[in-house]
Amino acid sequence: MTGTPILKVDGLAVRYPSRGFRKPPTTVIEDVSFEVGCAETVALVGESGSGKTTIGRAVLGLTPVSGGRVLLDGRDVTRLTGRARRLLSSDLQAIFQNPYGSLNPALPVGRTLAEPLLVDSARSRDEVRAHIAELLRRVGLPEDAADRYPPQFSGGQRQRIAIARAVARKPKLIICDEPTSALDVTTQAAALNLLSELQDTLGCAYLFITHDLAVVKEFAARTLVLQHGRIVEEGRSTDVCDRPQHAYTRRLVAAAPVPDPVLQRRRRQQRTDVEAATA
Ligand SMILES: Nc1ncnc2c1ncn2[C@@H]1O[C@H](COP(=O)(O)OP(=O)(O)OP(=O)(O)O)[C@@H](O)[C@H]1O
Ligand SMILES: [Mg+2]
Repeated sequence: MTGTPILKVDGLAVRYPSRGFRKPPTTVIEDVSFEVGCAETVALVGESGSGKTTIGRAVLGLTPVSGGRVLLDGRDVTRLTGRARRLLSSDLQAIFQNPYGSLNPALPVGRTLAEPLLVDSARSRDEVRAHIAELLRRVGLPEDAADRYPPQFSGGQRQRIAIARAVARKPKLIICDEPTSALDVTTQAAALNLLSELQDTLGCAYLFITHDLAVVKEFAARTLVLQHGRIVEEGRSTDVCDRPQHAYTRRLVAAAPVPDPVLQRRRRQQRTDVEAATA
C-alpha cells in the first residue's frame, strides 16, 4: 500500500457497560489495528459475534469508541459528533445487509437518492434530477424507478438502490456490512459485480464485512480475521483462504460451503481433522 491510507484504525477498543452492580464493562473489541488503502477492498471476516459490525459502526461513529483512534484520510475522526460528523458523509458511507431496513419505504426512490445530493445545496433541481437518472443507470435500474417506492422492488433491486445512495456523493470509503448476505446466489454475484464496477469507475475503497469466505477471495485483495474482538490473522485473501495460518481461520475456511461436492467432502474431512487437532 502506498500513500496515506483512506482508513487507519489504531488500537481500537469498544467496551459496553455490563448490567449488574460493580460488574466490569464487557470488552467487545480489543486493540484492533488495520489500514485500508485508497481504492482497496479489505475483507473483515469472523464468526457471528466476533465484533465485525461493531468495528464498522465504530468507524462510522455509530458506536462510541472506548480506546484507540480512527483516522479517515489521515484525519482523526474518533470523537467527532453532530455537524462535524455529518460533514464526513461525502467521504464515508455504508451499505447494510437489509436494504429494506435502511431505506424509507414511504419515500419515492428519487427522494431517497436526492437527500445526499442536497446536503450541499449548490446543485439545481435539474442537476439533481439528471444525477439521479445517471445513478440509477449506473446501478442497472430503469429511470422511472425514481418515482416508485422501495416496497415495489425485489431484494436485489432494493440493494441496488442502497448502493446508488451510498455512491451518490462519490465517497472515498464505503463500509459494506454483509451487503449481499440476504440475496440469493445469482443476485449476490450481480451485486458484487456492481460494487467492483463502481470501484473501478469511482475509485472508492471498501471495508467488506462478511462471514462468507466464499466471496472473500474473489472480491477483496486483503483479509482480516477477527476472533472474539481481536485480529488473529491478516494477509492477502488468497493466502488467508488457501494457506490459513491460525487454527481459527482454518476452521472458518473448512466451514465455508463450496459448490463442488468432491471439494465439499474434502473440506468436511479437513474440518473433522481440524476439530480433532484442536479438541
Ligand atoms: N449495544 C450493545 N451492548 C452490549 N453488547 C453489544 C452491543 N452491540 C453488540 N454487542 C456485543 O458485541 C459482540 C459483537 O457483536 P457484533 O454485532 O459486532 O458481531 P458480528 O461479528 O457482526 O456478528 P454477526 O456475524 O452475527 O453479524 C456480541 O457479543 C454482541 O452481543
Ligand atoms: Mg454483524
